[in-house]
Amino acid sequence: MSTAKILILPGDGIGPEVSAEAEKVLQALRADHGFDAEWTHGLIGGAAFDATGEPLPAATLEVARTSDAVLLAAVGGPKYDLAPRDKRPERGLLGIRAALGLYANLRPAILFPELAAASSLKPELVSDLDILIVRELTGGIYFGEPRGIREEGGQRIGFNTEVYSEREIERIARTGFEAARLRSKRLCSIDKHNVLESSELWRETVIRVGQEFADVQLSHQYVDNAAMQLVRAPKQFDVIVTSNLFGDILSDIAAQLTGSIGMLPSASLNERGQGMYEPIHGSAPDIAGKNLANPLAMILSVAMLLRYSLKRSDLADRVSAAVRRVLASGLRTADIARAGEAKIGTREMGDAVVVALA
Ligand code: IPM
Ligand code: MG
Repeated sequence: MSTAKILILPGDGIGPEVSAEAEKVLQALRADHGFDAEWTHGLIGGAAFDATGEPLPAATLEVARTSDAVLLAAVGGPKYDLAPRDKRPERGLLGIRAALGLYANLRPAILFPELAAASSLKPELVSDLDILIVRELTGGIYFGEPRGIREEGGQRIGFNTEVYSEREIERIARTGFEAARLRSKRLCSIDKHNVLESSELWRETVIRVGQEFADVQLSHQYVDNAAMQLVRAPKQFDVIVTSNLFGDILSDIAAQLTGSIGMLPSASLNERGQGMYEPIHGSAPDIAGKNLANPLAMILSVAMLLRYSLKRSDLADRVSAAVRRVLASGLRTADIARAGEAKIGTREMGDAVVVALA
């Protein structure tokens, strides 16, 4: 394979800090483990808005399109709350997802045994937890038209539209079934079929696609029940497939089950197999610039990038194993430390992973 091209988009808040640690890992892989790659940095989100007036500059998109993979940290911050709606940092993120057609968002929620005590649930409920949420990422209410805020009868009315075509549901359902096939062969589709027409079509379509996957056991849950089940008995789930909005909400719940949202990576893939990799956490403006953020979700996003876009599962395994070793040795950032445990900073955690890689 020729030299892999990676675009790094640090973004806002803790983004640049966790990006720097991910880059240390990439450098170590390149220096010591035969990883043939080069990378450049681009602007997105508030940082891009400050520099260019746009949350997703054309130059960023152009480089993204010609890269083998994009590694994005986080966007957003209170500073931009008053920016015009179409210039807000989140629009940059949604814009790049849409522009690259990254419809399949894979969010694994895995509890590292070393962190069982960091979960807010009892250890027996979460030990060995390993769930994969397959979230549709370029449709639904996030992108549906019409949308807006209009004046009517002397007051303002805000409106958005949940919309899914059969084609969109079919392709994400396939991603879900294919993922389930490689795991325990169980897929749970989550919708709001009892209330929403879009969910009616969702369920019908998932069942139809399921006929091509006779070896996968398909079940369905309403999203409210699924939220409860995730905190009641999370190990009943293996692969979950769901819409953009429901996936956004459920993946935060699943993240907390594993101890910290600072631990979970994600992959967003398009039909050409191109991918963007990002931690599922946000920009955490409250702790930005303080060397407090946990860089492991970002480093584990590098592992997903290696596995899915660069087909280097050997290196991906190496990165995951290094993270496991660091956790096993007792090193903790503040978000995963128990009361009284010593805490290390963002940079120290990145350094420890690099040492463990060797
Ligand atoms: C996520 C985030 C984003 C989303 C925000 C930052 C737009 O919460 O990736 O889960 O809602 O998709
Ligand atoms: Mg979210």
